[in-house]
Amino acid sequence: MNSQSHFLSILLIAFLASFSFSFSSNVPEDPLVLDHHHHQINSSGDHDEYIKPSPTISRTSRLAILSWAIAAHHSASANNIVVNVDSFGAKGDGGDDTQAFRKAWKKACSSQRGVDLVVPNRNYHLKPINFSGPCNSPITLKIYGTIKASPNRSDYSDDTRHWIVFENVTNFRVEGGGTIDGNGRIWWQNSCKVNEALPCTIAPNAMTFFGCINLQVDNIRFRNPQKMHLSFHECVNVKASNLIVTAPEDSPNTDGIHVTGTQNIKIMNCLIRTGDDCISIVSGSRNVRATDIICGPGHGISIGSLGAGNSEAEVSDVMVSRAKMMGTTNGLRIKTWQGGSGYASNIVFKNIMMHNVSNPIIINQYYCDQDEPCQEQTSAVKISNVVYDNVKGTSASKVAVKFDCSKRFGCQGILLRNVYIKPLGEGTAEASCENVSLIHRGRVSPKCSSTI
Ligand SMILES: *[C@@H]1O[C@H](CO)[C@@H](O)[C@H](O)[C@H]1NC(C)=O
Ligand SMILES: *[C@@H]1O[C@H](CO)[C@@H](O)[C@H](O)[C@H]1NC(C)=O
Ligand SMILES: *[C@@H]1O[C@H](CO)[C@@H](O)[C@H](O)[C@H]1NC(C)=O
Ligand SMILES: *[C@@H]1O[C@H](CO)[C@@H](O)[C@H](O)[C@H]1NC(C)=O
Ligand SMILES: *[C@@H]1O[C@H](CO)[C@@H](O)[C@H](O)[C@H]1NC(C)=O
Ligand SMILES: *[C@@H]1O[C@H](CO)[C@@H](O)[C@H](O)[C@H]1NC(C)=O
Repeated sequence: MNSQSHFLSILLIAFLASFSFSFSSNVPEDPLVLDHHHHQINSSGDHDEYIKPSPTISRTSRLAILSWAIAAHHSASANNIVVNVDSFGAKGDGGDDTQAFRKAWKKACSSQRGVDLVVPNRNYHLKPINFSGPCNSPITLKIYGTIKASPNRSDYSDDTRHWIVFENVTNFRVEGGGTIDGNGRIWWQNSCKVNEALPCTIAPNAMTFFGCINLQVDNIRFRNPQKMHLSFHECVNVKASNLIVTAPEDSPNTDGIHVTGTQNIKIMNCLIRTGDDCISIVSGSRNVRATDIICGPGHGISIGSLGAGNSEAEVSDVMVSRAKMMGTTNGLRIKTWQGGSGYASNIVFKNIMMHNVSNPIIINQYYCDQDEPCQEQTSAVKISNVVYDNVKGTSASKVAVKFDCSKRFGCQGILLRNVYIKPLGEGTAEASCENVSLIHRGRVSPKCSSTI
């Protein structure tokens, strides 16, 4: 192969890998049909992915989309007009820049041409702010500096759940290497999880994308959020990549990347050290793919909680591949409340390294995070087709594998393939398994003693 065609094939592979996901699920319909996918689930290589041609889009139309995408991207950024927040009175000198950002957004959103909305390399301060679409043209928000939250809690009295919101924006990118700083200390100090004498109140998430379509968030740092760092809420076609997400280990509810009601999302190359889940995936999310994630400290990668307050929850087609987890309280977790309905299914965790993780593999269908004990109930969010493939490392606790599944429904189709977890210290790790239908393949340790 000459170098040119080699380059082209790399381009094509990159294209197939990155684009087919947006248009169709790459996660196998039924991960448990392993014999059909044997050549695809190869735990010995760390580089394999499900690169599977979409059944609905032919190769030629993919190529057409590729050339269109490249052309669209290049022409769009080359011809973009530049809107600088400083031109609207932002100073980045410690004063409040909220009005200037509002005006700049209005200008950008109404533009008939693509826009680069620029936040220069200074320290800007914002009160809660909503950037709403739909906008007339694609917008790229280029954050070079730092955007810091107002620490005055009375600024949030209209909406205590959000600091920065992007709502109903289509064809939107956020990039630039800058920092989103939630200035969250004041909220942590006033959290009932930190000080039990205080009443429980709601803190704002730092950055929320609500109802956005074709969204990319790339190369941004998030630190010290009031509550969650980054939430994707009812979005479609999202790519979140090269993010550095940090908060102290003891900061309450500071989930790194929260995915709710969102479809076709790829989370790639992220470093997340925080006080709660590194990634949390909850109801209504489908086609979620997280690759090359470094997590810890934090509470690990979590699907759920699902089914709280007898609610219906649906999560499917999730793949987590190539994650390193260090010193987290959980590794790979699925948690559901009793009394819920719906399902969590077709979930693949593969190529995972753990070090010093307290509950490396855990499914809990009796999750109960409230003061009163939870009553025994007859319904549950059903859990099926979950694959743990090539999961290795050390557990900080004796029980490295725990399946605590519903007595009525059980967990169906759980596969462990080349799962090898030993305790951090001496001895052997244990598996605790209730009401789980399991298959073991390859080397699995610890193993459940009985399987149903
Ligand atoms: C996995 O990949 C290795 C190296 O490429 C190969 O030798 C092995 O046969 C593959 N195993 C499966 C199950 O495909
Ligand atoms: C900002 O957006 C959030 C989320 O959609 C919404 O709850 C809130 O009311 C909005 N605030 C304002 C001031 O529009
Ligand atoms: C916080 O904001 C309120 C209302 O906007 C204002 O009255 C108060 O002086 C502010 N507090 C501080 C410390 O700036
Ligand atoms: C965003 O879109 C949703 C659904 O179309 C709509 O209900 C909501 O009012 C929109 N929000 C704004 C701020 O326009
Ligand atoms: C394991 O993690 C705990 C909690 O984060 C930490 O205190 C401890 O130092 C870690 N031990 C090792 C050997 O990494
Ligand atoms: C769950 O386990 C209990 C005790 O082993 C057993 O009686 C029950 O039938 C199991 N239920 C399911 C759904 O597997």
